[in-house]
Amino acid sequence: KILIIDFGSQVTQLIARRVREEGVYSEIVPFQKAEEAFRTMRPKGVILSGGPASVTEQVSPRAPQAIFDAGIPVLGICYGEQTMAAQLGGGVEGGHHREFGRAEIEVKESVPLFEGVWEKGKRYPVWMSHGDRVTHLPPGFEVIAVSDNAPFAAIADTKRDFYAVQFHPEVVHTPDGAKLLRNFVRKIAGLTGDWTMRAFREESIEKIRAQVGKGRVICGLSGGVDSAVAAVLIHEAIGEQLTCVFVDHGLMRLGEATQVVTLFRDHYNIPLVHVNAEEMFLGELAKAGADPEAKRKTIGRLFIDVFEAEAKKIGGADFLAQGTLYPDVIESVSFTGGPSVTIKSHHNVGGLPERMNMKLVEPLRELFKDEVRVLGRELGLPEAFVGRHPFPGPGLAIRCPGEITKEKLDILRLADAIYIEEIRKAGLYDTIWQAFAVLLPVRTVGVMGDARTYESVLALRAVTSTDGMTADFFPFDMAFLGRVATRIINEVRGVNRVVYDVTSKPPGTIEWE
Ligand code: XMP
Repeated sequence: KILIIDFGSQVTQLIARRVREEGVYSEIVPFQKAEEAFRTMRPKGVILSGGPASVTEQVSPRAPQAIFDAGIPVLGICYGEQTMAAQLGGGVEGGHHREFGRAEIEVKESVPLFEGVWEKGKRYPVWMSHGDRVTHLPPGFEVIAVSDNAPFAAIADTKRDFYAVQFHPEVVHTPDGAKLLRNFVRKIAGLTGDWTMRAFREESIEKIRAQVGKGRVICGLSGGVDSAVAAVLIHEAIGEQLTCVFVDHGLMRLGEATQVVTLFRDHYNIPLVHVNAEEMFLGELAKAGADPEAKRKTIGRLFIDVFEAEAKKIGGADFLAQGTLYPDVIESVSFTGGPSVTIKSHHNVGGLPERMNMKLVEPLRELFKDEVRVLGRELGLPEAFVGRHPFPGPGLAIRCPGEITKEKLDILRLADAIYIEEIRKAGLYDTIWQAFAVLLPVRTVGVMGDARTYESVLALRAVTSTDGMTADFFPFDMAFLGRVATRIINEVRGVNRVVYDVTSKPPGTIEWE
């Protein structure tokens, strides 16, 4: 096992994910609880994450001293490097040489961390994000790599197996980062790497049973992969104690509701309550107006109302199950309560549990999307369902900037279906992380036949990503885009212009709202 001590970095879960990819089990604990976790877990290695604090402040988060005294390997990343250096007798200074984004480092020593990956004397790209830097070494340490702005970009005490790096090996922007982490868990900590998604499934089932006991669980299905996987996993753990509710809010894609109902009722024979709440959702959304957060909050609130009503019908539920993934947790501050800021209020982490005195069951909280797909296959979900692009809980409402009407949603649904059909025909569906149409609240002038038109603009979005946290726009060829535009304008009344979104994330987000 590897213990990951979290100092609040936005990307701590990526460290865990890389460790899982090496087939090694890891657990993340916040630094406040690290001492106790270290004692009970007895890890074979410890990784200290990055974080927003500065060790130059009077009070700053620290790693428990015990990890340095236990004779096991420790890897510090970014803030983890700084606190490690400071705690072991080195020096750190604040703020004059900030480095953000791509940087180059030069390798100074051949050490086990770099073995088979980086050669002494060569330069390699890494991703940096720091304000402070280490200025002098703790006793026993040597410099193993430097960058222009960080003379101590990587340091090590190879006798004690202590390593610390200023850059972030866990992000994809450090191309060799995963290999360095592999060296740490396999070569340095000596772990074998036989942990799999099957083990995750079994561990989760045990955890769910232990958490739920004899309680009743209610689970909302959004139509997406995550909630479906969560529901199937929980059903496997507790069977009849689970009630699945599918709220059809009228904001689904074309044919989506039928697919979900069929999957649960026919494929799995899991009982499903199908609530048709379109009228209620559209009625309330009309009142919410155009503000994206108002729309998201309205939808969240209505979900709660529907759920509350359904839970009452079954005599109350003790737990609410959700398919919350790690990226949802980190991007919605209401949930982490931590140092990261709110980008969007994700509907699935709303106020239901407090209002109804329910506890949350979230078996996928530590996973990323592609890992959930692996788990879905492990649980026997049909490939066509597992491979579906992600779809947000608030549905088409956040793909329709401005006020929501049924008419707009119908236009969007049709255009979206044509776009996706063309993507499938071109054999690109599985290469793309997520593709969808956005109906803009903008009308422009066109000419069709011999007549003037004055209709809506439709934007097409397609991105590649591995976890939804960062994304690049997909480079379609122009002939493809032209074909889609022609079909949409010909077949969808109300659209006379199509544009393609070429924004990556960051600075854009994947959805438009
Ligand atoms: P953004 O737009 O934040 O989206 O870059 C990242 C990923 O999350 C999905 N998303 C949501 N999923 N509830 C969800 O279940 C939500 O409220 C929500 N908002 C965004 C989005 O589709 C993308 O895959």
